[in-house]
Amino acid sequence: MEKNKKIVVGNMKMNLTSKEISTYLKFVNKKITSRRVVICPTSIYVPYFVNQNYFVGLQNIYSEEKGAYTGEISPKQAYSMGISFVIVGHSERRTLFKESDTLIHNKVKAALENHLNVILCIGETEEERSLLKTDVVIKRQIKSALKGLDSAMISKVILAYEPIWSIGTGVIPKKKDIEKTIDYIKGLVFQEFLVEDIPVLYGGSVNEKNIEKLNTIPNVSGFLVGGASTDPEKFLKIIEVAVGR
Ligand code: PGA
Repeated sequence: MEKNKKIVVGNMKMNLTSKEISTYLKFVNKKITSRRVVICPTSIYVPYFVNQNYFVGLQNIYSEEKGAYTGEISPKQAYSMGISFVIVGHSERRTLFKESDTLIHNKVKAALENHLNVILCIGETEEERSLLKTDVVIKRQIKSALKGLDSAMISKVILAYEPIWSIGTGVIPKKKDIEKTIDYIKGLVFQEFLVEDIPVLYGGSVNEKNIEKLNTIPNVSGFLVGGASTDPEKFLKIIEVAVGR
């Protein structure tokens, strides 16, 4: 995937039944023809999504290649199923499932070593923001996740800036605040890892109504869409605005 064009990632989370997925697929498989789109369905539905014009990603991955890890999916298994992207470090994994910075680092490394592209989520809580700690939190998350990885590996990482207080709430930061944080992130990755212009997506309550406005942020590389990606019409509108069909 070329790095200098926008991308849209749909994180469907734990939504839709098998029947609803069939309806969803009838719509999206016909209409989405852009290789700038990554859909991350609930993992049991992945086989229904592969081999289309868009890419398929997982919402989570484990850090080991194989073995006695009940309920987990390895990067090697994911790659063998035609999956090319994985979301790592989503705030729901960090908070609800207590994923540590160390585990997230191990997952990023294992995914990259097994040919997957990583969408690494970072972002601050409402409290951290009010204490003006956004940059400090983001710096910790990025430095620990990418520690020791060389620039060739990091070139397969896409960052997703998702302020936690914006996820699923309908509240989005001011455009200039998103721009400022993305600038900070790009500068930090260059300073720490000598990787220039790493792609940074924005995520948090992106929908079919605010996409035109968000799409004018000059340094945003695309969008990570949660709730709105489960509604094919809304998702398609977002794709059309950000990347075209
Ligand atoms: P949202 O979720 O679009 O529903 O806010 C975004 C995300 O969690 O990645």
